[in-house]
Amino acid sequence: METNLLDNIILKYQNPSGKVLSILEEVQEKQGYLSRESLIYISKNIKVPLTQIYSIATFYSFFNLKPVGTNIISVCMGTACHVKGAAEILNNLEYLLDVKEDEITSDGKFLLTTQDKNFSLNVARCFGCCSMAPVVRINEKIYGHMTINTLPKILKEYGWIKK
Ligand code: FES
Repeated sequence: METNLLDNIILKYQNPSGKVLSILEEVQEKQGYLSRESLIYISKNIKVPLTQIYSIATFYSFFNLKPVGTNIISVCMGTACHVKGAAEILNNLEYLLDVKEDEITSDGKFLLTTQDKNFSLNVARCFGCCSMAPVVRINEKIYGHMTINTLPKILKEYGWIKK
């Protein structure tokens, strides 16, 4: 944790205790995730209870409390995607990336990161393009009508190598 970096972010705000969301967004942007140490430091320095900081950090799905891989893969598990086989896509991704579902984070979020830190895998609840179900998002790009046959080709675009 870089306290200088955190101080610089906090000092930007005249009333930092009312700007927790903005502060957390900026810290994640700079550090890639929100470490426990960072949250404790922010809590002490802006005088907002740690429980309140944690509830904000865990409420918004875009916050990560664990380090994440270079490429973030989110499998939509919303109703339309579920009906069209999202679970099979998720299982296949776990297999291809060699990650297992037993690494659920303490905040209940599901985030699996490959050993080489090139990919993180999680689930989401509807990207708003249900007609393309099942849908997977990699970073900011949406892939629709996914099948287990198209997964390897797409993963290769992001540096995945078959083992
Ligand atoms: S349910 Fe998957 S995009 Fe809407």
